[in-house]
Amino acid sequence: MAENIKITVINKGSEQSFEAPDDVGLNLMEFLKATDHHEIEGMCGGMALCATCHVKVLEGNTGEEGINDEEAAILETLPEVFSNSRLSCQIKLTDKIKNLKIELV
Ligand code: FES
Repeated sequence: MAENIKITVINKGSEQSFEAPDDVGLNLMEFLKATDHHEIEGMCGGMALCATCHVKVLEGNTGEEGINDEEAAILETLPEVFSNSRLSCQIKLTDKIKNLKIELV
């Protein structure tokens, strides 16, 4: 049964909470764009090629899928990368995730 995922977004020091459906096939990049987070460009459309969807994951698991080699390689191209860096387009919003706290980079 579909449930909502609680997503807390920290952006420039302010914190906002959202709920996202877990059954419509969105990824986190698409959700952030849909909620007017214009800092997230998502230029490659979620193909793990541009890194313009970079976020830090502060709390919550990101599902069963971890960082694959492709995502890790793109993250390494960024001037600043953190131990909790992720490409938000590679985080699928499914029922494997209950809540997330992220920070826009
Ligand atoms: S949208 Fe391009 S890497 Fe995520």
